[in-house]
Amino acid sequence: KKRVGILTSGGDCPGLNATIRGVAKALYARMGDDVQIIGILNGYHGLINGDYKEMCPDDFRGLLTLGGTILGTKRTPFKMMRVVEEDNIDKVAAMKKTYKALKLDCLLTLGGNGTHKTANLLSQEGLNIIGLPKTIDNDIYGTEVTFGFHTAVDIATDVIDRIHTTAGSHSRVMCIEIMGNKAGWLTLYSGIAGGADIILLPEIPYDIDRVCNAVVKRAENGSNFSILAVAEGAINTEEAKMKRKEWTAKRAEAGLGTTATNRIAAAVQKKTGFETRVCIPGHMQRGGSPSAYDRVLATQFGSYAAKLVEADRYGVTVAMVNNHVTENRLADIAGKSRNIPESCDLLAVARRMGICLG
Ligand code: F6P
Repeated sequence: KKRVGILTSGGDCPGLNATIRGVAKALYARMGDDVQIIGILNGYHGLINGDYKEMCPDDFRGLLTLGGTILGTKRTPFKMMRVVEEDNIDKVAAMKKTYKALKLDCLLTLGGNGTHKTANLLSQEGLNIIGLPKTIDNDIYGTEVTFGFHTAVDIATDVIDRIHTTAGSHSRVMCIEIMGNKAGWLTLYSGIAGGADIILLPEIPYDIDRVCNAVVKRAENGSNFSILAVAEGAINTEEAKMKRKEWTAKRAEAGLGTTATNRIAAAVQKKTGFETRVCIPGHMQRGGSPSAYDRVLATQFGSYAAKLVEADRYGVTVAMVNNHVTENRLADIAGKSRNIPESCDLLAVARRMGICLG
């Protein structure tokens, strides 16, 4: 029997369970009784601590629509992997030990950039690893899309849609903070889908005067409200000149929170006189059932990973390139991330639509 380990690591997102199901169903369909799936619990922590569950086909029923991850997940920062002193555990050695003890033929790791970094490390240590790209941030290098992203776009868009009601009724400026870590994909897509008037992204430092001018101009043109989609990673032109450490310290000192949204709202209210409010949908953006798009993507990615297992093709991660499912070498993508390039068509679309990008 081929013994296939599978784990989910990093933040949860819609489509994790659908991908697990995609892998399992395709493996059982192709290999039948010749495969045994072993679920490693709570990400790399389970691999370090030897927490696992031998799975059977019944465990994978009903997963297509289920949010979160049946395997549990945890954030295990990559820098902690190499730290032995703190807790006196050689984590890499511990992970290798569990892999060997469970007699795994390979391990599938579902996660984002951090997960892929560790996956590459384990691959370099001689383990047979296959990655699967998960994140609502859509910032994994080498793939056009990650599962979880489009569901989060749908949720954030719904938030922006609903905020329009209050914005219009109260003649307010509404600032919605969108997740995405250091990438603006989620904000750009949901901002355009939700009809935001101003979209502020980590990739384009904003100038608060330009933002305020855009609000005033809208009022002059007869709109009594404005909607700002603000990426949680948005920074202003002054912060862009500093090191991250420096501006995060300055933000902490000013006491308006770690993200820019509250200070943008306060500045807009002060400079334009419009009543302003902040809305932070937060983790709702990664909650619940995956969208139809993500269910399809999870099934495409999961079944492709099963094909890789069958072919003993390791040291790779599944990816979408030119709208085709393929794979990248872990070594080629680990430690990198994907931001919105200036050449992105959607930026041009936003500008053409008169959306202020800061
Ligand atoms: O990577 C997904 C994400 O939701 C980011 O958009 C966000 O910055 C981060 O995770 C939040 O992490 P946590 O759930 O650990 O607070």
